[in-house]
Amino acid sequence: MSSQSLEQIAQSLVAPGKGILAADESNGTMSKRLEAVNVEPSEHTRRAYRSAMFSSEGIEEYISGVILFDETIRQKMDDGTPIPDYLISKGIIPGIKVDTGAKPLSWHEGETVTEGLDGLRGRCEEYYRMGARFAKWRAVIKISGDLPSDAAISVNAHALARYAAICQEQGIVPIIEPEVLMTGPHGLGQCASITSRILNAVYSECKIQGVNLRGTILKPNMVLPGSEAEKVDAESVARATAEVLKEMVPEEVAGVAFLSGGQSDIDATSHLNETNLAIGNAPWPLTFSFGRALLADALSLWSKSDVEGAQAKLRHRSRMNALAAVGAWSSDLEV
Ligand code: 13P
Repeated sequence: MSSQSLEQIAQSLVAPGKGILAADESNGTMSKRLEAVNVEPSEHTRRAYRSAMFSSEGIEEYISGVILFDETIRQKMDDGTPIPDYLISKGIIPGIKVDTGAKPLSWHEGETVTEGLDGLRGRCEEYYRMGARFAKWRAVIKISGDLPSDAAISVNAHALARYAAICQEQGIVPIIEPEVLMTGPHGLGQCASITSRILNAVYSECKIQGVNLRGTILKPNMVLPGSEAEKVDAESVARATAEVLKEMVPEEVAGVAFLSGGQSDIDATSHLNETNLAIGNAPWPLTFSFGRALLADALSLWSKSDVEGAQAKLRHRSRMNALAAVGAWSSDLEV
C-alpha cells in the first residue's frame, strides 16, 4: 500500500462538510442501548437497527465513513448485500473498530489500557478484504484525584502508535482516539492540561514508531469541564479546544474528527461549530466522528417502529454536523 493512497483515504474521510458516523458499539454496549429503549438485544435486533440507519436516504451527502463493529461488518442488509458492500455502493467508506476494549491496568486502580494488538495484523488483512479502509482504536483516560497516572498515559500512547503502524502497513487508515472522559467534577483547565498531556505522548510515540501522520486522523475529546462541574459557554469550550489542538497536533495530521463523549446532540454540534470559528486557519479540518450525538434520538424513534422518523433524524443530525464542520451551523436551523 503506497503512503499516497493512505493519505487519499484519510483526506476523503475529512473532506469539507463531511464527517464520520461511529456505529461501532461493542455487542455489550449496543445491547445496553437497546435495553434502554425496551428492545430485546440480539444479533437480529442489532442488525435490523444498524441496517435501517445505514439505509437512511441521502446521508452520504454528509457522512464520508461509517465505523462498524466486528459483528456488523459480517452482516447483510435486508436484500442480502453485505453491509460493507452496501456502504461502498453508497459512496461511504467502511471502517472497523479493531481494539478489543479497555481492560484494567495492573497496579493502577481505576485506570485502563486498551488491548487488541495481538493478532491485529491478521485481523486487518481480513477486514481489508471485506472492504474496510480505515480503523478505530479508543484509549480511555480518566481524570480523578491524581489520575491519570504517567503509566496510563504511557501505555495507552504506546498502544495507539503500535496500532496505527500496523494498520498503515495493511493499507488501513488509523483513527487515533485518545478519549479523556467527561465524567467527574474537574474543570475546563484540568481537561485542557490532561488532553495536552495525552496528545503529546501519542505524537511522540507515533514519531518513534514511524507512523505516517498524513495517513492518520485524530479523534479527540473536546476540551470540556467534567459532567459534575458547572457548564461553561460554547465559546469557552471552543477557545480551550482550539488552543490545545493548535499546540499539540502536528500539521501533517490529515484531520481531526471529534467524539461526542456523552454531550447532548445540540451541545456537540454547537461546540464543533464554535471550535471551527475559533480556530481560524488550522492546518487540518475539524469535523465529527460522533456516535451518540448522531444516533441517540434516531434509536429512540426506531425502537417505536418509526423507521422513517429515525432515518430523518439521523439525516438531520448529519446535516447539522456537516454544517458545523465548516462553521456554518446556527441554532435556527434546528427547528
Ligand atoms: P460518542 O460520539 O458517542 O462518544 O462515540 C464516538 C466513539 O466512537 C467513541 O469511541
